[in-house]
Amino acid sequence: MKYIPLSLAPMAGLTGSAFRRLVRWIGGCGTVYTEFVSAEALTRGSTKSRTLMRFREEERPIICQIFGAKAPAMAESAKIVESLGVDGIDINAGCPVPKIVRQNAGAALLRDRRLCKEIFTYVVNSVRIPVSLKMRAGLTDDQACIDVGRIAEECGIGLVTVHARTASQAYAGRADWEIIGRVKAALVIPVFGNGDVVTANQAIEMLEMTGADGVMIGRGALANPGIFETTAALLERRLPVVPSKSQIFSKYLALLLDEEDRFGALNHLKQFAAYFTRGIPRGAEFRNAINHSRSLEEIAVLTPAFLHETS
Ligand SMILES: Cc1cc2nc3c(=O)[nH]c(=O)nc-3n(C[C@H](O)[C@H](O)[C@H](O)COP(=O)(O)O)c2cc1C
Repeated sequence: MKYIPLSLAPMAGLTGSAFRRLVRWIGGCGTVYTEFVSAEALTRGSTKSRTLMRFREEERPIICQIFGAKAPAMAESAKIVESLGVDGIDINAGCPVPKIVRQNAGAALLRDRRLCKEIFTYVVNSVRIPVSLKMRAGLTDDQACIDVGRIAEECGIGLVTVHARTASQAYAGRADWEIIGRVKAALVIPVFGNGDVVTANQAIEMLEMTGADGVMIGRGALANPGIFETTAALLERRLPVVPSKSQIFSKYLALLLDEEDRFGALNHLKQFAAYFTRGIPRGAEFRNAINHSRSLEEIAVLTPAFLHETS
């Protein structure tokens, strides 16, 4: 299989199986990640968590992201995830949401090196598949990612992704790509950079500026799911083949209509539309109509009126 140094970021409420298949259908993406799953909930047998981990063969390679603050539960959930057949496990050390941080999980891991070491060791030793880590630059301006990246490497983690914002920045303010370069220089294992890549040129710029081994793209892929194909084409010096926005939206709708969990699918489409409809003619009106819809079928009926002019 051809190696593509691009990954689709895990995004709760957005990057479900249908969206990941949409990205695969367009092409150009190396690895996709599931939405994050609670290790505690998984070990308690939560059906919601199991649903989050459902995937289809065509999504591979696929990595499942878990979060938690207790090493035994993280290890046990990693085993469960492995048994479902995913290609890798990612540990979340980036989520800044207070509910998660209060449990000492997500970005809170960055303030406790001992806990990091314990969790990383437990998880790596509990599974055979590769384990990666996704982390913030730091909690505030501490640049903990360099230290935590070293710990990850020592514990046998195979790849780290750095979201170049601190947890206190949440999703606002600019990502500081320099920190990605610093982590890359400090580690031997592959380092992916993440944050504020919304065009193919920016993806190339991040690779060149930081020396990173790859780029992870989040919101840029919601606004433009073809960004991977456009970037891969630039890297491979060929012309990209990207469907029109209208074709992309229709395909996503069709994939969602095929999902068992119709309520979840409708919510995923509403969240997606918030990004995808920006900048298209009558985008605000379309977004509004989608938000007021009660079913995917209703959206399917109103869509042609909005997307017929969009290339
Ligand atoms: C709505 C939303 C949900 C997210 N959920 C997750 C998640 O479950 N796990 C995770 O590691 N990061 C999550 N993120 C962060 C993204 O993976 C990514 O690191 C961040 O958006 C920065 O990249 P971008 O500028 O390319 O979007 C989420 C981001 C958004 C906007």
